[in-house]
Amino acid sequence: MIIAIDGPAAAGKGTLAKRLAEHFELAYLDTGLIYRAVGKKMVDEGFNLESIEKAESIAKALSPVDLEIEGLRTDEVAQMASKVSVIPGVRSALLEFQRSFAERPPAGKRGAVLDGRDIGTIVCPNANLKLFVTARTTIRAERRFKELQKRGLEAIYARVLEDIKERDARDSSRSASPLEPASDAYQLDTSALDSNQVFAEALEIVEAVGIS
Ligand code: C5P
Repeated sequence: MIIAIDGPAAAGKGTLAKRLAEHFELAYLDTGLIYRAVGKKMVDEGFNLESIEKAESIAKALSPVDLEIEGLRTDEVAQMASKVSVIPGVRSALLEFQRSFAERPPAGKRGAVLDGRDIGTIVCPNANLKLFVTARTTIRAERRFKELQKRGLEAIYARVLEDIKERDARDSSRSASPLEPASDAYQLDTSALDSNQVFAEALEIVEAVGIS
């Protein structure tokens, strides 16, 4: 059983994906972390975006332990992730990693939940359920701002809002696997919902689809 969850930054995908994975005893992969790991390595090694070949070779060599690297959650790394993610060679190098997680989930799980930008369209087009999770831009920026503060990271609301707008624009307009809902995805707007309500709505969709 594969559940694909896509949507823009800070729409509530990760929280929902984790809860669905726990509820249905599925493995969970935050695919944003994979792009962040490539972005972080580029930042750490002092490469800029002219080093396309370097980004591709980092992506090819990525291993699961790289997803545990410290500092993947900062906005600087998110921006670099969004920049490396437009490179087709980076995306194709990371595709196999994601597909093999979905097809052969770890720890003997019977399936997986993956969240990202192109899971329902490219990575798992045959997923049993596809959700496209959105929320108004200002609401997403507020959520991300609070999350950064909670982590003890320095944050300025206006800057967080700009970062999110910039990433949304880049993620939606790139030619390789842009952020867009799959034609058979269920849309879930979380602007006015808390995480329990989002989970309850998703469970209703699961029941209606009859996949559990
Ligand atoms: O989900 P998260 O905000 O951690 O993702 C960081 C960046 O990685 C996104 O802005 C996007 O550019 C990229 N990404 C992607 N495809 C995915 C997941 C993330 O292009 N499936």
